[in-house]
Amino acid sequence: MGIGQKIYQYDSIDSTNAEAMRLGRLGAEDGTLVVAERQTKGKGRRGRTWESKEQGNLYFSLLLRPKLPADKVSMLTLVMALAVLEGAEELCGISLGIKWPNDIVAGGKKAVGILTELDFPEKDSYQVIVGVGINVIKQNFPEDIAGKATSLEEAAGKKISKEDLLTAVLIRFENHYEHFCREGSLENLREVYDSRLVNKNRMVRVLEPGGEYEGMALGITKEGRLLVAPCDSDGMADKENLKEVYAGEVSVRGIYGYV
Ligand code: BTN
Repeated sequence: MGIGQKIYQYDSIDSTNAEAMRLGRLGAEDGTLVVAERQTKGKGRRGRTWESKEQGNLYFSLLLRPKLPADKVSMLTLVMALAVLEGAEELCGISLGIKWPNDIVAGGKKAVGILTELDFPEKDSYQVIVGVGINVIKQNFPEDIAGKATSLEEAAGKKISKEDLLTAVLIRFENHYEHFCREGSLENLREVYDSRLVNKNRMVRVLEPGGEYEGMALGITKEGRLLVAPCDSDGMADKENLKEVYAGEVSVRGIYGYV
């Protein structure tokens, strides 16, 4: 079943991710797309909420059942990040970047968030929901994120069609997703992903459950982990003792700001 061949569209829904999960549990097909004008309980990463009151932004989720071990699905976040970046760049005529693992940034500020959720309706089978929130229109962001959030229209200085944007993203996602499923890794996407990584060769602070450290981000592995050269006692990046940072466990911040 193709990506977005079956579409559920809502004026308002609690969360397109939650709805895709419910529909999946009721037997909706692989590739089903859920889109909403607004969300009343938009979900962000790490239990945060995703501000979704504003009409004009893009909120959508894909229901997927890839034939891959469940521990590989977190990589879909990176696959989607690349698809959104490429689709949005083409449509808006601007240059964007990826803040690992999955924020799309314009001029150093976040314009897109992606939330991938794994769900096991039965013991032996899973479904995965990849949800995307794109700030499309110019808007007043809540005070706590105002300094680090932007929108595509603000960055491009022109009107953007949500429908065209969604189509551009889904076309790219379908292509990258096919490669990813065939290979079961990001091997073929790694180079292009790295070339768009705003963290690359920058100092980052890795916030792990057990503590935090600083280091230089070097790129991703074929499993989508961030390669970090931790700082030694002199503050120099130690490239002999690379660490692989797994997105599920940690948060990565730029030392000098959001990226
Ligand atoms: C993040 O915290 O950066 C991820 C935000 C993901 C938001 C999108 S909006 C559409 C989909 N439905 C949700 O409830 N969340 C995702």
